[in-house]
Amino acid sequence: MKPTFVSRTQRKRMSSSQVSSLRFPPPNIGNCRGNRIISAIISWFVLQAVIALPVPLAGSAMAGPAAPANLRCQYLTNPLGIDVTQPRFAWVLEHSERGETQSAYQVLVATSAENLSHDHGDAWDSGKMASDDSTQVAYAGKALESGHRYYWKVRAWDKGGAASPYSHPAWFEMGLLSPSDWKGEWIGGANQLRTEFKLADSVMLARATIAGVGYYELHVNGVRIGSSVLDPAWTTYEKRVLYATYDVTPYVQGGANAIGVMLGQGWFASRALRFQLDVELADGRHFQVQSNTSWKARNGPVVSDSVYNGEIYDARLEAPGWDRSGFDDSAWSTAQSVPGPQGVLSAEMMPPIRDVDTLVPLSMRSPRPGVYVYDMGQNMSGWAELRVRGPRGAAVKMRFAELADDDGTINRDDIRAAKASDTYILRGPGILRGEDDEVYNPHFTYHGFRYVEVTGYPGTPSLDSIRGRVVHSAVAPVGSFVASKQILNQIQRLIRWSQLTNLFGIPTDCDQRDERQGWMGDAQVTAEEAMMNFDMAAFYTNFVRDIRDVQASDGTITDTVPHRYGSRPADPAWGTAFPLICWHMWQQYGDRRILEENYDSLKKYVEFLRSRAPDNVLRYSYYGDWVAIDHTPGELVSDAYYYYDVEILRDIAAILGKSADSQAYAQLADQVRAAFNQTFLDTKAGTYANGTQTAHALALFLGLVPNEQRGAVAGHLTDDISYAHNTHVTTGFIGVKVLMPALTEIGRSDLAYELAVQTTYPSWGYMVENGATTLWELWENKRGPSMNSHDHAMFGSVGAWFYNALAGINLSADGAGYRHIRIEPQVVEDLHWVSATVETIRGTVSSSWTHSPGEITLDVTIPVNSDAKVVVPKEEEMTAVTVREGDRIVWQNDEFVPGDPGVTGASAGHGDITFEVGSGHYAFRLTGE
Ligand code: BGC
Repeated sequence: MKPTFVSRTQRKRMSSSQVSSLRFPPPNIGNCRGNRIISAIISWFVLQAVIALPVPLAGSAMAGPAAPANLRCQYLTNPLGIDVTQPRFAWVLEHSERGETQSAYQVLVATSAENLSHDHGDAWDSGKMASDDSTQVAYAGKALESGHRYYWKVRAWDKGGAASPYSHPAWFEMGLLSPSDWKGEWIGGANQLRTEFKLADSVMLARATIAGVGYYELHVNGVRIGSSVLDPAWTTYEKRVLYATYDVTPYVQGGANAIGVMLGQGWFASRALRFQLDVELADGRHFQVQSNTSWKARNGPVVSDSVYNGEIYDARLEAPGWDRSGFDDSAWSTAQSVPGPQGVLSAEMMPPIRDVDTLVPLSMRSPRPGVYVYDMGQNMSGWAELRVRGPRGAAVKMRFAELADDDGTINRDDIRAAKASDTYILRGPGILRGEDDEVYNPHFTYHGFRYVEVTGYPGTPSLDSIRGRVVHSAVAPVGSFVASKQILNQIQRLIRWSQLTNLFGIPTDCDQRDERQGWMGDAQVTAEEAMMNFDMAAFYTNFVRDIRDVQASDGTITDTVPHRYGSRPADPAWGTAFPLICWHMWQQYGDRRILEENYDSLKKYVEFLRSRAPDNVLRYSYYGDWVAIDHTPGELVSDAYYYYDVEILRDIAAILGKSADSQAYAQLADQVRAAFNQTFLDTKAGTYANGTQTAHALALFLGLVPNEQRGAVAGHLTDDISYAHNTHVTTGFIGVKVLMPALTEIGRSDLAYELAVQTTYPSWGYMVENGATTLWELWENKRGPSMNSHDHAMFGSVGAWFYNALAGINLSADGAGYRHIRIEPQVVEDLHWVSATVETIRGTVSSSWTHSPGEITLDVTIPVNSDAKVVVPKEEEMTAVTVREGDRIVWQNDEFVPGDPGVTGASAGHGDITFEVGSGHYAFRLTGE
């Protein structure tokens, strides 16, 4: 890959003062208003402050290795209720010196905080392990017991043998490890269930374990427990049901107690509860509450609930005090024993769905008497919180829409059969003054919307009657990307919103219409982008297990996971989500275990594909390059993905030391490649199939093109973009994922960049220019009853290219889990600066560059225990090149100048100089004439 300087003349037209005035302005992120602008500016300055910080802190008080930080177990911080018998640990290292690595570690796991504080790892003391593993370190101590909490800490030795202090203690707690640990039975019969119990002594510890499908809400002594909503995540219920564990110690007390559970239908389309509460009393006794037919049941205020259609909540049916002891439930019936779902109970070990943010509406309009339409200013997932006062029995209806028409009314053509509407029926004024405001949030539904239409409101609502509650899987942000070109920041903003609003326990295609499915094609193209922007490790660990759960004995998997829409077998470009997400888990997090656990299933999947490709060409296809402008033959797309899958399996086999398999799949890959070229390549013309961008990008990206044809194929691709389509994409979402990296691969990042900043149809910028606040399903700006969601994540795959190419944050070929990093920014002429940071599994990786005539600066951060090749680009005709790192010269007279701590070597390439560095923060500045 070569850095690209598209136009020297263009650059020369700009004076140096013009250029420097463009450097590092606070990004003015589009489509955000008011406090969102302020928060964008604040995060910009915070980001700059973070980037400016020398890491590690040179001259800070602590010399040598600092205590390991950010301790995680199974990718989670202090997880409660896990059911992995050999959980894996990860920590982040810090050091006052550059170029540091871990030479050894010691992990202590204790059964009590006290033992740990005495450095007594009574469950596991790894001893001093000579190893540079600081992630994926598997527990290897005594068998872990159901329901027990374990405390752990770690210390590390640096490369010179100096030991760090021990980390702060962390913990993890086991869930229910065996089916026989589950004493409660599945009950149901109504949507509100309750029980009471008495405790003879005060409470030392209380844990609630709950599996409630479709969705549950748990209450203990009048308190709603936990911050999850729409829990548990959707799974293939016949195979697996997720349960959650809550620490309810503060809510359970000596004497009388009550438990209440509300159940929603969710994706289960029925209701069932399995529950138990384990209490340790002060006198040492153990007490257990189980779900059984002694519980009471009735249908409560949730009159109806459906993911697609919304909820009707009649507050007149509330039973105040139902979740407290002493409540008179004599009119309630008894809970029924129900079969419940057949799947095994598994711990939910990922960030749950949460109500994570609140949006204040931008405006309220009344297009017709009694009809009020709120504009949230942002297409979002979740619901509207309603604040209302009025007569008992008044019904306020909220209907949700992504679009509004010019007359101010909502337009719901694109959400198809989803009724997406919530109705709240008021309980009416209380006896005391001040009790009259009623606040409603739905319990068991969510919507994708920007506009809320309110009807039936008693009196006139105000802007304060509605708040947007943003709901999705609460994955932590780990990446930030900003650039001097405003449109890129606006696109990045759309990518993040579209990605988050499509994480609901599974990655979904959309969040609004009668679909919201785990479409695997959408999942495979977005996975890399998602991992650069958010901490997806636990989320995808769960999703890969979901995929395995749908696999049949013949190896087939399905278009959607869980399987509700689409076909079995999956379209090959959709099925690729299985090998590819495993592969990305290895790449991004160094997760070898996911490769081990899925190897047999992946092999079965690939063998199934092979059985459908007797002549080494896999032809079956349903969707091909979905939503493309120029159609590419589906069989070319399927066959290319077949090759991809075989290649991934070959590489996984090699990593796992299965050399015979690796060789066999290498051979198969060669055969598939040859057959692909025989079938689709016109060797005379140097074109594939009908010569679309997708056909050429797939072939180039996957390395399918014979060497002698590469130039021709690359030429056809770039001609098609530049001349036939005036620098526009014509691909669908499958093609565009590979188009951008393929262009970078052939040295045309400049052209990829022009596509990225294009603002006319079809382009990402066109969406921005037309007011999109999330990415559309189609390149077209469409409305009406046909397929045109305004919140699909899949075109956001370009976000990975922002990080990889524009910011240059990459893994080395052997760098899984960011052990070896390659920083190689594509410095395109039109950009003056780019700045990106990713909190990787090993710590912060950042890359920020500026470019002005005769000078390039590149600041990078490499975590302790990692190293990097840092490729500093130079302008092609530049001579007398000098590179400084901080105050020191590290390159002069075409030679590396040694001596700068952490910089161990350098070599010149055609248009760049590559420095080898260890951990630390580096500020390179290349100048020349
Ligand atoms: C979804 C897509 C999905 C496709 C399969 C659509 O309805 O919304 O994103 O991948 O079906 O072709």
